[in-house]
Amino acid sequence: MDSFLIQGGQRLAGSIAVSGSKNSALPILAVSLMTDAPCRFGNIPLLRDIQTQVKILNTLGIESVWKGRVITTRVADTYNSTAPYELVKQMRAGVCVLGPLLAKRGEAIVSLPGGCVIGERPIDLHLKGLEALGAEITLDHGNIHAKAPKGGLRGAEIYLGGKFGSSVLATDNVMCAAVLAKGTTVIECAACEPEVVDLAECLNAMGARIEGAGSPRITIHGVKKLKGADWDVIPDRIEAGTFILAGAITRSPITVAGCRPDHLLAFFDVLRQMGIRTERKANAVKVIPVDLWKGTEVVTLPHPAFPTDCQAQTMALMSLAQGASTLTERIYPERFMAAAELKRMGAKISVANGVALIQGVDKLSGAEVMASDLRASAALVIAGLAAQGETKISRVYHIDRGYERIEERLRKLGARIQRIAGSPEPAAAKTAEA
Ligand code: EPU
Repeated sequence: MDSFLIQGGQRLAGSIAVSGSKNSALPILAVSLMTDAPCRFGNIPLLRDIQTQVKILNTLGIESVWKGRVITTRVADTYNSTAPYELVKQMRAGVCVLGPLLAKRGEAIVSLPGGCVIGERPIDLHLKGLEALGAEITLDHGNIHAKAPKGGLRGAEIYLGGKFGSSVLATDNVMCAAVLAKGTTVIECAACEPEVVDLAECLNAMGARIEGAGSPRITIHGVKKLKGADWDVIPDRIEAGTFILAGAITRSPITVAGCRPDHLLAFFDVLRQMGIRTERKANAVKVIPVDLWKGTEVVTLPHPAFPTDCQAQTMALMSLAQGASTLTERIYPERFMAAAELKRMGAKISVANGVALIQGVDKLSGAEVMASDLRASAALVIAGLAAQGETKISRVYHIDRGYERIEERLRKLGARIQRIAGSPEPAAAKTAEA
Protein backbone atom coordinates (compact mmCIF):
# COMPACT_ATOMS: atom_id res chain seq x y z
CA MET A 1 0.00 0.00 0.00
CA ASP A 2 1.52 3.29 -1.09
CA SER A 3 1.76 6.32 1.19
CA PHE A 4 2.27 10.02 0.65
CA LEU A 5 4.90 11.96 2.50
CA ILE A 6 4.19 15.69 2.61
CA GLN A 7 6.43 18.48 3.93
CA GLY A 8 3.84 21.11 4.74
CA GLY A 9 4.01 24.86 4.77
CA GLN A 10 5.09 25.46 1.16
CA ARG A 11 3.45 28.23 -0.86
CA LEU A 12 2.20 26.94 -4.23
CA ALA A 13 2.34 28.78 -7.54
CA GLY A 14 1.37 28.22 -11.14
CA SER A 15 -1.48 26.51 -12.90
CA ILE A 16 -3.02 23.04 -12.55
CA ALA A 17 -5.34 21.53 -15.15
CA VAL A 18 -8.47 19.64 -14.15
CA SER A 19 -9.09 16.13 -15.55
CA GLY A 20 -12.32 14.82 -17.05
CA SER A 21 -15.08 14.06 -14.58
CA LYS A 22 -14.94 10.59 -13.04
CA ASN A 23 -18.60 10.65 -12.14
CA SER A 24 -19.58 11.69 -15.67
CA ALA A 25 -17.30 9.20 -17.37
CA LEU A 26 -18.57 6.19 -15.40
CA PRO A 27 -22.22 6.27 -16.58
CA ILE A 28 -21.29 7.67 -19.99
CA LEU A 29 -19.04 4.69 -20.74
CA ALA A 30 -22.02 2.45 -19.98
CA VAL A 31 -23.98 3.89 -22.94
CA SER A 32 -21.71 1.73 -25.12
CA LEU A 33 -24.13 -1.04 -24.08
CA MET A 34 -27.09 0.83 -25.63
CA THR A 35 -26.00 0.84 -29.28
CA ASP A 36 -24.75 -1.63 -31.88
CA ALA A 37 -22.36 0.99 -33.28
CA PRO A 38 -18.79 1.74 -32.16
CA CYS A 39 -18.33 4.60 -29.69
CA ARG A 40 -15.61 7.10 -28.86
CA PHE A 41 -15.35 8.71 -25.44
CA GLY A 42 -12.83 11.53 -24.83
CA ASN A 43 -11.46 13.48 -21.84
CA ILE A 44 -11.50 10.26 -19.82
CA PRO A 45 -9.50 10.53 -16.58
CA LEU A 46 -6.83 7.87 -16.01
CA LEU A 47 -8.25 6.45 -12.80
CA ARG A 48 -8.70 3.17 -11.00
CA ASP A 49 -12.50 3.54 -11.03
CA ILE A 50 -12.51 3.96 -14.80
CA GLN A 51 -10.37 0.82 -15.16
CA THR A 52 -12.93 -1.04 -13.06
CA GLN A 53 -15.80 0.24 -15.21
CA VAL A 54 -13.99 -0.82 -18.37
CA LYS A 55 -13.49 -4.31 -16.87
CA ILE A 56 -17.22 -4.49 -16.08
CA LEU A 57 -18.07 -3.49 -19.66
CA ASN A 58 -15.58 -6.03 -21.04
CA THR A 59 -17.33 -8.74 -19.02
CA LEU A 60 -20.60 -7.63 -20.63
CA GLY A 61 -19.24 -8.13 -24.14
CA ILE A 62 -17.90 -4.66 -24.92
CA GLU A 63 -14.45 -4.59 -26.50
CA SER A 64 -12.46 -1.48 -25.67
CA VAL A 65 -9.25 0.25 -26.59
CA TRP A 66 -7.92 2.88 -24.21
CA LYS A 67 -5.35 5.31 -25.66
CA GLY A 68 -4.40 8.38 -23.65
CA ARG A 69 -7.65 10.06 -22.70
CA VAL A 70 -9.79 8.33 -25.30
CA ILE A 71 -11.65 5.05 -24.96
CA THR A 72 -13.21 3.48 -28.04
CA THR A 73 -15.65 0.62 -27.75
CA ARG A 74 -17.44 -1.90 -29.93
CA VAL A 75 -19.97 -4.58 -29.10
CA ALA A 76 -18.38 -8.02 -29.42
CA ASP A 77 -21.25 -10.10 -28.06
CA THR A 78 -24.52 -9.54 -26.28
CA TYR A 79 -24.72 -12.93 -24.63
CA ASN A 80 -23.49 -12.09 -21.15
CA SER A 81 -25.57 -9.51 -19.28
CA THR A 82 -24.21 -10.24 -15.81
CA ALA A 83 -22.09 -7.70 -13.92
CA PRO A 84 -20.31 -9.80 -11.27
CA TYR A 85 -19.81 -9.06 -7.56
CA GLU A 86 -16.02 -9.32 -7.96
CA LEU A 87 -16.10 -6.07 -9.95
CA VAL A 88 -19.16 -4.24 -8.58
CA LYS A 89 -17.76 -4.58 -5.05
CA GLN A 90 -14.67 -2.65 -6.18
CA MET A 91 -16.82 0.28 -7.20
CA ARG A 92 -20.42 0.98 -6.36
CA ALA A 93 -20.96 2.97 -9.55
CA GLY A 94 -20.81 -0.33 -11.46
CA VAL A 95 -24.56 -0.42 -10.79
CA CYS A 96 -25.00 2.17 -13.57
CA VAL A 97 -24.84 -0.59 -16.21
CA LEU A 98 -28.27 -1.77 -15.00
CA GLY A 99 -30.42 0.71 -16.97
CA PRO A 100 -28.40 0.49 -20.22
CA LEU A 101 -28.36 -3.33 -20.17
CA LEU A 102 -32.07 -3.60 -19.48
CA ALA A 103 -32.86 -1.03 -22.18
CA LYS A 104 -30.90 -2.74 -24.95
CA ARG A 105 -30.82 -6.42 -24.04
CA GLY A 106 -34.09 -6.66 -22.12
CA GLU A 107 -32.31 -8.29 -19.22
CA ALA A 108 -29.64 -7.46 -16.65
CA ILE A 109 -28.12 -9.26 -13.72
CA VAL A 110 -26.07 -6.89 -11.62
CA SER A 111 -24.57 -7.76 -8.28
CA LEU A 112 -26.05 -5.75 -5.41
CA PRO A 113 -23.44 -3.28 -4.20
CA GLY A 114 -22.54 -4.16 -0.63
CA GLY A 115 -22.02 -2.00 2.45
CA CYS A 116 -20.24 1.25 1.80
CA VAL A 117 -17.71 3.14 3.91
CA ILE A 118 -19.57 6.45 3.62
CA GLY A 119 -22.81 5.07 5.01
CA GLU A 120 -25.94 3.29 3.88
CA ARG A 121 -26.33 3.46 0.11
CA PRO A 122 -29.63 1.82 -0.85
CA ILE A 123 -30.66 1.31 -4.47
CA ASP A 124 -34.43 1.26 -3.92
CA LEU A 125 -34.93 4.30 -6.18
CA HIS A 126 -33.13 2.62 -9.10
CA LEU A 127 -35.40 -0.41 -8.75
CA LYS A 128 -38.59 1.60 -8.23
CA GLY A 129 -37.90 3.60 -11.41
CA LEU A 130 -37.15 0.56 -13.54
CA GLU A 131 -40.23 -1.26 -12.20
CA ALA A 132 -42.36 1.73 -13.17
CA LEU A 133 -41.14 1.19 -16.75
CA GLY A 134 -42.48 -2.37 -16.55
CA ALA A 135 -39.32 -4.25 -15.55
CA GLU A 136 -39.72 -7.30 -13.39
CA ILE A 137 -37.12 -7.21 -10.65
CA THR A 138 -36.07 -10.00 -8.36
CA LEU A 139 -33.26 -10.09 -5.83
CA ASP A 140 -31.57 -13.42 -5.30
CA HIS A 141 -28.13 -14.72 -4.34
CA GLY A 142 -26.91 -11.15 -3.91
CA ASN A 143 -27.90 -10.16 -7.45
CA ILE A 144 -30.45 -7.80 -8.95
CA HIS A 145 -32.18 -9.60 -11.78
CA ALA A 146 -34.11 -7.18 -14.02
CA LYS A 147 -36.16 -8.32 -16.99
CA ALA A 148 -38.15 -6.25 -19.46
CA PRO A 149 -41.73 -7.43 -20.14
CA LYS A 150 -42.70 -9.02 -23.46
CA GLY A 151 -43.00 -6.11 -25.86
CA GLY A 152 -40.32 -4.11 -24.00
CA LEU A 153 -40.21 -1.32 -21.44
CA ARG A 154 -42.99 1.29 -21.53
CA GLY A 155 -42.78 5.00 -20.71
CA ALA A 156 -44.27 6.10 -17.36
CA GLU A 157 -44.53 8.97 -14.91
CA ILE A 158 -42.06 8.33 -12.12
CA TYR A 159 -41.46 10.20 -8.87
CA LEU A 160 -37.82 9.45 -8.07
CA GLY A 161 -37.31 11.35 -4.79
CA GLY A 162 -36.10 9.50 -1.68
CA LYS A 163 -35.66 10.47 1.94
CA PHE A 164 -32.37 12.20 1.03
CA GLY A 165 -33.78 13.86 -2.08
CA SER A 166 -32.77 12.94 -5.62
CA SER A 167 -30.27 10.25 -6.62
CA VAL A 168 -27.69 10.76 -9.36
CA LEU A 169 -27.16 7.16 -10.45
CA ALA A 170 -30.86 6.25 -10.06
CA THR A 171 -31.72 9.15 -12.38
CA ASP A 172 -29.02 7.93 -14.80
CA ASN A 173 -30.27 4.34 -14.76
CA VAL A 174 -33.94 5.21 -15.24
CA MET A 175 -33.16 7.84 -17.90
CA CYS A 176 -31.08 5.32 -19.89
CA ALA A 177 -33.78 2.65 -19.65
CA ALA A 178 -36.48 5.14 -20.74
CA VAL A 179 -34.49 6.22 -23.82
CA LEU A 180 -35.23 2.89 -25.55
CA ALA A 181 -38.70 2.37 -23.97
CA LYS A 182 -41.95 2.76 -25.91
CA GLY A 183 -43.65 6.12 -25.31
CA THR A 184 -42.84 9.01 -23.02
CA THR A 185 -41.35 8.93 -19.53
CA VAL A 186 -41.40 11.77 -17.03
CA ILE A 187 -38.93 11.60 -14.13
CA GLU A 188 -39.97 13.93 -11.32
CA CYS A 189 -37.41 14.81 -8.60
CA ALA A 190 -34.62 13.90 -11.00
CA ALA A 191 -31.06 14.67 -9.91
CA CYS A 192 -29.88 17.99 -11.41
CA GLU A 193 -26.12 17.34 -11.20
CA PRO A 194 -23.99 18.43 -14.18
CA GLU A 195 -23.02 14.77 -14.65
CA VAL A 196 -26.69 13.90 -15.34
CA VAL A 197 -26.80 16.68 -17.94
CA ASP A 198 -23.59 15.39 -19.54
CA LEU A 199 -25.07 11.89 -19.83
CA ALA A 200 -28.34 13.25 -21.28
CA GLU A 201 -26.48 15.36 -23.85
CA CYS A 202 -24.33 12.40 -24.86
CA LEU A 203 -27.47 10.26 -25.31
CA ASN A 204 -29.20 13.03 -27.30
CA ALA A 205 -26.17 13.22 -29.60
CA MET A 206 -26.70 9.47 -30.17
CA GLY A 207 -30.32 10.06 -31.19
CA ALA A 208 -32.16 10.00 -27.85
CA ARG A 209 -34.92 12.54 -27.15
CA ILE A 210 -34.38 13.78 -23.61
CA GLU A 211 -35.65 17.18 -22.42
CA GLY A 212 -35.16 18.99 -19.13
CA ALA A 213 -31.94 17.36 -17.89
CA GLY A 214 -30.46 19.67 -15.25
CA SER A 215 -33.94 20.42 -13.86
CA PRO A 216 -35.95 18.25 -11.44
CA ARG A 217 -38.29 17.12 -14.26
CA ILE A 218 -36.80 15.15 -17.14
CA THR A 219 -38.98 14.08 -20.06
CA ILE A 220 -37.79 11.25 -22.28
CA HIS A 221 -39.50 10.34 -25.54
CA GLY A 222 -38.50 6.76 -26.33
CA VAL A 223 -36.66 5.99 -29.59
CA LYS A 224 -36.11 2.64 -31.33
CA LYS A 225 -32.32 2.72 -31.53
CA LEU A 226 -29.25 4.82 -30.94
CA LYS A 227 -26.23 5.66 -33.08
CA GLY A 228 -22.72 5.34 -31.70
CA ALA A 229 -21.40 7.93 -29.26
CA ASP A 230 -18.66 10.48 -29.91
CA TRP A 231 -18.42 12.41 -26.67
CA ASP A 232 -15.94 14.30 -24.50
CA VAL A 233 -16.89 14.29 -20.83
CA ILE A 234 -17.06 17.50 -18.78
CA PRO A 235 -14.24 18.58 -16.44
CA ASP A 236 -14.34 17.19 -12.91
CA ARG A 237 -15.96 19.82 -10.69
CA ILE A 238 -14.96 18.01 -7.49
CA GLU A 239 -11.32 17.85 -8.53
CA ALA A 240 -11.50 21.57 -9.38
CA GLY A 241 -12.98 22.31 -5.93
CA THR A 242 -10.26 20.22 -4.26
CA PHE A 243 -7.45 22.14 -6.02
CA ILE A 244 -9.05 25.52 -5.26
CA LEU A 245 -9.12 24.53 -1.58
CA ALA A 246 -5.44 23.47 -1.81
CA GLY A 247 -4.65 26.99 -3.06
CA ALA A 248 -6.76 28.67 -0.38
CA ILE A 249 -5.37 26.68 2.57
CA THR A 250 -1.73 27.25 1.51
CA ARG A 251 -2.42 30.95 0.81
CA SER A 252 -1.24 30.51 -2.77
CA PRO A 253 -2.33 32.33 -5.94
CA ILE A 254 -2.74 29.19 -8.05
CA THR A 255 -4.88 28.94 -11.17
CA VAL A 256 -7.14 25.93 -11.63
CA ALA A 257 -7.47 25.62 -15.38
CA GLY A 258 -9.78 23.71 -17.73
CA CYS A 259 -12.68 23.66 -15.27
CA ARG A 260 -16.32 24.77 -15.31
CA PRO A 261 -16.78 27.36 -12.53
CA ASP A 262 -20.50 27.49 -13.39
CA HIS A 263 -20.79 23.97 -11.93
CA LEU A 264 -19.53 25.15 -8.53
CA LEU A 265 -21.60 28.23 -7.62
CA ALA A 266 -22.66 27.00 -4.16
CA PHE A 267 -19.04 26.11 -3.43
CA PHE A 268 -17.90 29.64 -4.39
CA ASP A 269 -20.59 31.09 -2.18
CA VAL A 270 -19.13 29.22 0.80
CA LEU A 271 -15.62 30.45 -0.03
CA ARG A 272 -16.97 34.00 -0.22
CA GLN A 273 -18.60 33.63 3.21
CA MET A 274 -15.24 32.48 4.58
CA GLY A 275 -13.51 35.52 3.10
CA ILE A 276 -11.63 33.64 0.36
CA ARG A 277 -11.70 35.39 -2.96
CA THR A 278 -11.39 33.91 -6.41
CA GLU A 279 -11.14 35.37 -9.90
CA ARG A 280 -13.32 33.38 -12.26
CA LYS A 281 -13.17 33.11 -16.02
CA ALA A 282 -15.31 30.85 -18.21
CA ASN A 283 -12.87 27.92 -17.85
CA ALA A 284 -10.47 28.82 -15.05
CA VAL A 285 -10.38 29.98 -11.45
CA LYS A 286 -7.57 31.90 -9.78
CA VAL A 287 -7.32 31.79 -6.01
CA ILE A 288 -6.64 35.24 -4.49
CA PRO A 289 -4.86 34.28 -1.29
CA VAL A 290 -5.73 35.75 2.07
CA ASP A 291 -3.87 35.22 5.35
CA LEU A 292 -6.93 34.70 7.51
CA TRP A 293 -10.38 33.36 6.80
CA LYS A 294 -13.42 32.89 8.95
CA GLY A 295 -15.68 30.00 9.85
CA THR A 296 -19.10 29.50 8.32
CA GLU A 297 -22.05 27.11 8.17
CA VAL A 298 -22.37 24.66 5.31
CA VAL A 299 -25.10 22.14 4.52
CA THR A 300 -24.53 19.51 1.84
CA LEU A 301 -27.52 18.87 -0.41
CA PRO A 302 -28.11 17.67 -3.97
CA HIS A 303 -26.99 20.00 -6.79
CA PRO A 304 -27.19 22.99 -7.19
CA ALA A 305 -26.48 23.18 -3.43
CA PHE A 306 -23.12 22.46 -1.81
CA PRO A 307 -21.74 19.05 -2.94
CA THR A 308 -21.10 16.30 -0.41
CA ASP A 309 -18.03 15.34 -2.43
CA CYS A 310 -16.34 18.64 -1.41
CA GLN A 311 -17.35 18.40 2.25
CA ALA A 312 -14.27 16.69 3.72
CA GLN A 313 -11.85 18.97 1.86
CA THR A 314 -13.77 22.02 3.11
CA MET A 315 -13.47 20.66 6.64
CA ALA A 316 -9.69 20.91 6.27
CA LEU A 317 -9.99 24.61 5.37
CA MET A 318 -12.45 25.21 8.24
CA SER A 319 -9.94 23.65 10.66
CA LEU A 320 -7.71 26.69 10.12
CA ALA A 321 -10.48 29.31 10.04
CA GLN A 322 -10.99 32.03 12.63
CA GLY A 323 -13.92 31.02 14.79
CA ALA A 324 -16.30 28.10 14.52
CA SER A 325 -17.83 26.36 11.51
CA THR A 326 -20.50 23.73 11.09
CA LEU A 327 -20.80 21.16 8.34
CA THR A 328 -24.18 19.47 8.12
CA GLU A 329 -24.18 16.36 5.92
CA ARG A 330 -27.68 15.85 4.48
CA ILE A 331 -26.70 13.25 1.87
CA TYR A 332 -24.49 10.84 3.78
CA PRO A 333 -24.92 11.67 7.50
CA GLU A 334 -22.05 9.30 8.39
CA ARG A 335 -19.53 10.69 5.91
CA PHE A 336 -17.14 12.25 8.42
CA MET A 337 -14.16 9.89 8.25
CA ALA A 338 -11.79 12.83 7.71
CA ALA A 339 -12.61 14.30 11.14
CA ALA A 340 -10.74 11.77 13.32
CA GLU A 341 -7.61 11.98 11.16
CA LEU A 342 -7.66 15.79 11.00
CA LYS A 343 -7.86 15.75 14.79
CA ARG A 344 -4.55 13.84 14.82
CA MET A 345 -3.13 16.89 13.05
CA GLY A 346 -4.42 19.26 15.72
CA ALA A 347 -7.87 20.15 14.34
CA LYS A 348 -10.69 20.65 16.84
CA ILE A 349 -13.73 18.83 15.49
CA SER A 350 -16.67 17.11 17.10
CA VAL A 351 -19.23 15.13 15.14
CA ALA A 352 -22.76 14.23 16.24
CA ASN A 353 -25.96 13.39 14.36
CA GLY A 354 -24.69 14.25 10.90
CA VAL A 355 -23.19 17.58 11.96
CA ALA A 356 -19.50 18.40 12.41
CA LEU A 357 -18.60 21.34 14.61
CA ILE A 358 -15.17 22.68 13.75
CA GLN A 359 -13.44 25.14 16.03
CA GLY A 360 -10.69 26.84 14.02
CA VAL A 361 -7.10 26.55 15.27
CA ASP A 362 -4.01 28.64 14.38
CA LYS A 363 -2.00 25.78 12.96
CA LEU A 364 -2.12 22.12 12.04
CA SER A 365 0.89 19.95 12.71
CA GLY A 366 2.07 17.12 10.49
CA ALA A 367 1.23 13.61 11.70
CA GLU A 368 0.82 10.03 10.52
CA VAL A 369 -2.73 9.64 9.27
CA MET A 370 -4.70 7.10 7.31
CA ALA A 371 -6.84 7.60 4.22
CA SER A 372 -10.20 5.89 4.62
CA ASP A 373 -12.18 6.93 1.54
CA LEU A 374 -11.66 9.00 -1.56
CA ARG A 375 -12.71 12.47 -0.42
CA ALA A 376 -11.38 12.07 3.15
CA SER A 377 -7.99 11.28 1.59
CA ALA A 378 -8.14 14.46 -0.46
CA ALA A 379 -8.89 16.38 2.76
CA LEU A 380 -5.78 14.91 4.38
CA VAL A 381 -3.61 15.92 1.43
CA ILE A 382 -4.92 19.49 1.64
CA ALA A 383 -4.38 19.59 5.40
CA GLY A 384 -0.88 18.11 4.99
CA LEU A 385 0.07 20.85 2.52
CA ALA A 386 -0.81 23.50 5.12
CA ALA A 387 0.45 21.71 8.25
CA GLN A 388 3.76 22.43 9.93
CA GLY A 389 6.24 19.60 9.44
CA GLU A 390 5.79 16.19 7.91
CA THR A 391 2.53 14.35 7.25
CA LYS A 392 2.48 10.71 6.23
CA ILE A 393 -0.79 9.52 4.69
CA SER A 394 -1.10 5.76 4.39
CA ARG A 395 -3.52 3.79 2.16
CA VAL A 396 -3.50 6.35 -0.64
CA TYR A 397 -5.01 3.81 -3.04
CA HIS A 398 -8.29 5.47 -2.04
CA ILE A 399 -7.17 8.74 -3.61
CA ASP A 400 -5.95 7.02 -6.78
CA ARG A 401 -9.54 5.95 -7.41
CA GLY A 402 -10.60 9.53 -8.05
CA TYR A 403 -7.57 11.82 -8.55
CA GLU A 404 -5.12 11.25 -11.36
CA ARG A 405 -1.47 11.26 -10.15
CA ILE A 406 -2.36 13.96 -7.65
CA GLU A 407 1.11 14.04 -6.09
CA GLU A 408 2.86 14.69 -9.44
CA ARG A 409 0.45 17.46 -10.33
CA LEU A 410 0.71 19.17 -6.94
CA ARG A 411 4.51 18.88 -7.11
CA LYS A 412 4.45 20.95 -10.31
CA LEU A 413 2.87 23.72 -8.21
CA GLY A 414 5.76 23.52 -5.76
CA ALA A 415 4.22 21.17 -3.19
CA ARG A 416 6.65 18.85 -1.42
CA ILE A 417 4.78 15.57 -1.71
CA GLN A 418 6.24 12.15 -2.51
CA ARG A 419 4.73 8.74 -3.06
CA ILE A 420 6.33 5.98 -1.05
CA ALA A 421 5.72 2.59 -2.64
CA GLY A 422 4.38 -0.07 -0.28
CA SER A 423 2.94 -3.57 -0.20
CA PRO A 424 -0.11 -4.57 -2.32
CA GLU A 425 -3.52 -3.36 -1.25
CA PRO A 426 -5.82 -5.35 1.03
CA ALA A 427 -8.97 -6.90 -0.42
CA ALA A 428 -11.86 -4.46 0.09
CA ALA A 429 -14.03 -5.36 3.07
CA LYS A 430 -16.79 -3.07 1.86
CA THR A 431 -17.84 -1.79 -1.53
CA ALA A 432 -15.71 1.19 -2.49
CA GLU A 433 -17.74 4.32 -2.10
CA ALA A 434 -18.00 6.20 -5.38
N1 EPU B 1 -30.39 6.99 -2.13
C1 EPU B 1 -31.51 6.31 -1.74
N2 EPU B 1 -31.98 5.33 -2.58
C2 EPU B 1 -31.39 5.04 -3.76
C3 EPU B 1 -30.25 5.76 -4.15
C4 EPU B 1 -29.77 6.73 -3.30
O1 EPU B 1 -32.07 6.55 -0.69
O2 EPU B 1 -31.87 4.16 -4.48
C5 EPU B 1 -29.86 8.02 -1.25
C6 EPU B 1 -28.43 7.75 -0.79
O3 EPU B 1 -28.42 6.94 0.36
C7 EPU B 1 -27.90 9.13 -0.54
C8 EPU B 1 -28.61 9.96 -1.57
O4 EPU B 1 -29.75 9.21 -1.99
O5 EPU B 1 -28.31 9.59 0.73
C9 EPU B 1 -27.78 10.32 -2.74
O6 EPU B 1 -27.18 9.20 -3.28
P1 EPU B 1 -26.97 9.10 -4.83
O7 EPU B 1 -27.78 7.98 -5.36
O8 EPU B 1 -27.15 10.42 -5.48
O9 EPU B 1 -25.47 8.71 -4.94
P2 EPU B 1 -24.89 7.99 -6.17
O10 EPU B 1 -25.60 8.37 -7.39
O11 EPU B 1 -24.77 6.54 -5.84
C10 EPU B 1 -23.14 9.82 -6.88
C11 EPU B 1 -21.66 9.94 -6.92
C12 EPU B 1 -21.11 10.07 -5.52
C13 EPU B 1 -21.74 11.30 -4.87
C14 EPU B 1 -23.27 11.19 -4.91
C15 EPU B 1 -23.98 12.41 -4.37
C16 EPU B 1 -21.11 8.72 -8.92
C17 EPU B 1 -20.43 7.57 -9.53
N3 EPU B 1 -21.09 8.78 -7.57
O12 EPU B 1 -23.40 8.62 -6.17
O13 EPU B 1 -19.71 10.26 -5.65
O14 EPU B 1 -21.31 11.45 -3.55
O15 EPU B 1 -23.71 10.96 -6.27
O16 EPU B 1 -23.64 13.53 -5.11
O17 EPU B 1 -21.62 9.58 -9.60
C18 EPU B 1 -17.48 10.36 -4.95
O18 EPU B 1 -17.16 10.67 -6.12
O19 EPU B 1 -16.69 10.46 -3.99
C19 EPU B 1 -18.83 9.87 -4.68
C20 EPU B 1 -19.14 9.15 -3.60
